[in-house]
Amino acid sequence: MDRLIVEFDRALRAVAGVAHASRPSPAEGISEKEIDEKERMHAVALMRVNHVGEVCAQALYQGQALTARDPVARQALEQAAREEEDHLAWSAERIRELGGRLSLLNPLWYAGAFAIGAVAGALGDRWNLAFLAETERQVEEHLGGHLDELPPEDSRTRAVVEAMQADEARHRASAIELGAAELPEPVKRAMRLASKVMTTVAYRV
Ligand SMILES: [Fe+2]
Ligand SMILES: [Fe+2]
Repeated sequence: MDRLIVEFDRALRAVAGVAHASRPSPAEGISEKEIDEKERMHAVALMRVNHVGEVCAQALYQGQALTARDPVARQALEQAAREEEDHLAWSAERIRELGGRLSLLNPLWYAGAFAIGAVAGALGDRWNLAFLAETERQVEEHLGGHLDELPPEDSRTRAVVEAMQADEARHRASAIELGAAELPEPVKRAMRLASKVMTTVAYRV
């Protein structure tokens, strides 16, 4: 019961954008530079996409940690989930600094990702971890794409995205180390398609 309350609290905070970071934002100490309006709007939209990605990461990790059987795997999932919470807080903070807003559909993204995470978890640790490793790989790639698109002078946003990308790479490596299977190609493609839908919608809404 206590666990459920903790998880529910975490879900509400994720959706509302009031997560607490345990590490300071990578943007800290970097000066804010003047960026033109169009580029600022683009940076906001990209960060909204990233924030939604992190809302989904919360839900996925929660869904999976609830069903993971192996205590070592569970501990790794919980550690990664804490770092995802930093990402959630950092990206929400950056969106506010840039004068933007979070996705209005956060509850929906969360619910969808939680359901997927619970299914992956129910398939057993090997597949659970496989799903996680592939998610992290796609997110890592995706963040790399954002680094190409973000205004070069927006060093604060870039610092956040770079730090997130480095964490995701570590999460993927740890999932593989814990014995992740390799997902079949059609599953990877379906995940790409789902993430395409999410990123396209979240860029706008
Ligand atoms: Fe993340
Ligand atoms: Fe991650």
